[in-house]
Amino acid sequence: MRLVRLGILGSGKGTNCRAILESIRSSALAAEVRVVISDVFDAPILDIAREFSIPNAYLPPGQFRTRLEPQAESDLVRLLRDASVELVVLAGFMRVLKSPMLDAFPRCIVNIHPSLLPKFPGLEAWKQALVAGEKVSGCTVHYVDEKIDHGDIIVRREVPILPNDTPESLHARIQIAEHELYPTVIGQICRQFSTA
Ligand code: GAR
Repeated sequence: MRLVRLGILGSGKGTNCRAILESIRSSALAAEVRVVISDVFDAPILDIAREFSIPNAYLPPGQFRTRLEPQAESDLVRLLRDASVELVVLAGFMRVLKSPMLDAFPRCIVNIHPSLLPKFPGLEAWKQALVAGEKVSGCTVHYVDEKIDHGDIIVRREVPILPNDTPESLHARIQIAEHELYPTVIGQICRQFSTA
């Protein structure tokens, strides 16, 4: 089976990126990461890319806080195209994407979010679930559209909320589920790509 070419975008720690790269290294995931791009200059996700010898880039996001400036988003499309990326994987990328990216990669951008969407989109979803008194939370992998943490849901994984949970303990438990779920789902999508 041929290797589907991935581009990973992230703004932070990069633990999901690491899980994907480790799955590829162990041959559990038949894909190739062509580039890792971050809108945060010193994001640890870029260090992880370097550790795995993956080409990586910092993308200056421009003046907005929750989205990229149009020129920056066009630059992002160019970077991904130059790397021949087929599937764009958001791994803690904290900006909403607009038409330059959505038109360039129709139904070829996926995201993981730490809640059972459509509940609790946005920042610190695990904290939102705790404050709301939920008994169960989890994570969701979905196709990306123009709204925050929105788009067709591919799969959801439940994670229990325990009585003594803190925001940190709950997020850590959700992340364990994310690291198992995301490479698995990406593998399923890659199989659709490579048989299309
Ligand atoms: C993950 O928990 C991911 O679900 C979340 O950011 C974290 C990134 O962690 N994404 C969102 O909240 C998207 N709205 P990581 O950098 O260690 O992979």
